[in-house]
Amino acid sequence: MATILKRERLVPNIHLLQVHAPEISRKCKPGQFVIIMPDERGERIPLTIADWDREKGSITTVVLVVGTSTHKLSLLKEGDEVPVFVGPLGKPSEIEKYGTVVCAGGCFGIGALYPIARALKKAGNRIITLLDVKANYLMYWEERLREVSDKFFVSARDSYYNCKDFMPYVLQDIIKKEKRVDRVISIGCTYLMSACSEATRPHGVKTLVSLNPIMVDGTGMCGACRVTVGGKTKFACVDGPEFDGHLVDWEELFARRKSYFEDEIQSLCYWEKINFP
Ligand SMILES: Cc1cc2nc3c(=O)[nH]c(=O)nc-3n(C[C@H](O)[C@H](O)[C@H](O)COP(=O)(O)OP(=O)(O)OC[C@H]3O[C@@H](n4cnc5c(N)ncnc54)[C@H](O)[C@@H]3O)c2cc1C
Ligand code: FES
Repeated sequence: MATILKRERLVPNIHLLQVHAPEISRKCKPGQFVIIMPDERGERIPLTIADWDREKGSITTVVLVVGTSTHKLSLLKEGDEVPVFVGPLGKPSEIEKYGTVVCAGGCFGIGALYPIARALKKAGNRIITLLDVKANYLMYWEERLREVSDKFFVSARDSYYNCKDFMPYVLQDIIKKEKRVDRVISIGCTYLMSACSEATRPHGVKTLVSLNPIMVDGTGMCGACRVTVGGKTKFACVDGPEFDGHLVDWEELFARRKSYFEDEIQSLCYWEKINFP
């Protein structure tokens, strides 16, 4: 059992979840994830570690509410317990001095990017942060990300921020305007990461993406998270979650993510009906 230290709504569809997990907080590194089970009858779902406090023994994640399990997480309260909270899982992000790195994130990926951008900045890189939100009211952790960025852009469909275009177009503009971009790391929904990879491909800029296939055990045993990268089969939970976006078989990933679509919808409808009759 792990105890919830804090659950806070950051924006209407995204919540911060802080969990007491001293062992994980001692070992975790940027880019790794945890698996959480919201209740005894729930499923195990992966969440990227967005921050940690080794003294307090806490792990912070940022949760985008999409289906039954994330809805359950969004209703947890301080002091509640979850039956499963395991990690750190996956390979950490590669943190070295590359030069100029664009950190590009959307939805829960804004939180997931934060420790990576912070570590890359500490390693001596020049950080250009580029975030994608539909509108300004969906933006969170702006101050935190500005603090670790040399340049900061937000691509939003409303007029509140500096660019209105969809993030991959802004990413292309940044690459053209900067003398040199050495690496891009993109985290968010699958569509955003695939579009960012296509945007950087013609420029030959190495682009890392943190893949989010369906996962079950998170230890390389079940095969649920199988992805194809560079023509080879990989398990995102142990070989990733970060991979070279130019080598990912995106069509296969989109298709595999839809495997349980009908069941997911039915599960959410049933859960809503019994909890909010
Ligand atoms: C390594 C890894 C790290 C992850 N880190 C995070 C994280 O830090 N925060 C976070 O919120 N999520 C993260 N995810 C995704 C998260 O695990 C799923 O969103 C979650 O399992 C959904 O469970 P659910 O029961 O709420 O929704 P489901 O019932 O499984 O899904 C409902 C429907 O919502 C849609 N959907 C599912 N996931 C997404 C998505 N990410 N974006 C848009 N639509 C979606 C799909 O159409 C799906 O059919 C991560 C996934 C992986 C593999
Ligand atoms: S989640 Fe089972 S092999 Fe990756």
